[in-house]
Amino acid sequence: MNAFTYRGGVLHAEAVPLPRIAESVGTPFYCYSTAALDAAWHAFADAFAGSDVTICYAVKANSNLAVIRTLAQRGAGADVVSVGEMRRALAAGIPPERIVFSGVGKTAAEMAEAVEAGIYQINVESLPELRALSAVAAGLGRRAPVAVRVNPDVDARTHAKISTGRKENKFGIDIDLARAVYAEAAALPGIRPVSVAVHIGSQLMELEPFRMAFERVAELVRVLREDGHDIRRMDLGGGLGIRYRDEAPPSHGEYARIVREVAGALGCHVTLEPGRALVGNAGILVSSVIYRKEGVGRNFLILDAAMNDLMRPSLYDAWHTIVPVKEPGPGSAVQPIDVVGPVCESTDTFAVQRPLPPVAEGELVAFLSAGAYGAVMASTYNTRPLIPEVLVNGSDFAVVRRRPTIEEILAAEAIPAWL
Ligand code: LLP
Repeated sequence: MNAFTYRGGVLHAEAVPLPRIAESVGTPFYCYSTAALDAAWHAFADAFAGSDVTICYAVKANSNLAVIRTLAQRGAGADVVSVGEMRRALAAGIPPERIVFSGVGKTAAEMAEAVEAGIYQINVESLPELRALSAVAAGLGRRAPVAVRVNPDVDARTHAKISTGRKENKFGIDIDLARAVYAEAAALPGIRPVSVAVHIGSQLMELEPFRMAFERVAELVRVLREDGHDIRRMDLGGGLGIRYRDEAPPSHGEYARIVREVAGALGCHVTLEPGRALVGNAGILVSSVIYRKEGVGRNFLILDAAMNDLMRPSLYDAWHTIVPVKEPGPGSAVQPIDVVGPVCESTDTFAVQRPLPPVAEGELVAFLSAGAYGAVMASTYNTRPLIPEVLVNGSDFAVVRRRPTIEEILAAEAIPAWL
């Protein structure tokens, strides 16, 4: 489903014309569609209908409370990687028994809060972390339900910066060492080893790496059971890719079939941690053209959005389709142009020599597929306030995060008395 379409020559989010939102909140802003979130949720969840699966939305992809609530109302649990995200998930209405806490470096304070909240599972990624959790949980008189995240040494065949399942990555415990780790886990106070977790990377375009990783995990579950561990769950991570340009991501149905085949044979309950697949195509970034600059042999479209608002192009060379909000007339000429932001860095470039129809100064453009890892990765570099987020639902829209004022940014800082 595409919630962002031209109607009457103007790009809309569902039934709301984007210029109307721009007038109300100013640019740049992120805009999310409830219908698109709903469609992405159903595409994923329906593929697993009837399976023993909990879909724990990876909140890191888009942690706006309204987005989490939208998914929570449809049955999502949450995968969180910090106590901040855990509090968001709880505040958005996700019950603790549907929350998984992942991440390579949880502090003792974070683990204590998670244990006290009674969340479903804590995924540990190293022996020191396992021992720290043991001390924390035992100190609270609790036993924490634990998965060890294993590193299966599988190449996810995705961008090197978002690949996590190779031996050289910092993530998880080498799968060959897992037996010894589970033996220690079972002997530690405060720890209840209940699951095995894996996550090999993000924006995967092939199913084979998933299958290989899942099969390795299944094999490990068998071995662990023989060793006497009562493992009845598997956490198979996230990573399913989406279309940004012309990619052909694997079908949800095929992905679900692999999960079912691997987990069903073991009678395991499965948690999944999709992020991007649920929110990526449900959001856009809308920006105004400040200037059109004619360079020597190169023209630039200078926008009011910058790398601090949407980091993916400068960080991963990611492609985001850029469209004018005013629909180009039929047969309007397309010209290559560099689309850049106003930040003082060469890497503040969204697209190089992108063929675009003419867009005039003051007009709006939209970056598509910006719902995942957009707003959440933004910074205030160059003292640019974080930009607002807007959620559309049919013909309604609401500001779900307002733009802070520059005064608020300055107010968080202090000049010491000796100055
Ligand atoms: N589970 C774990 C343990 C993860 O580390 C991640 C993502 C996910 C689940 C969700 O993965 P997804 O379904 O969204 O692929 N900022 C990068 C992506 C980083 C992904 C980090 N981990 C980007 O903009 O492409």
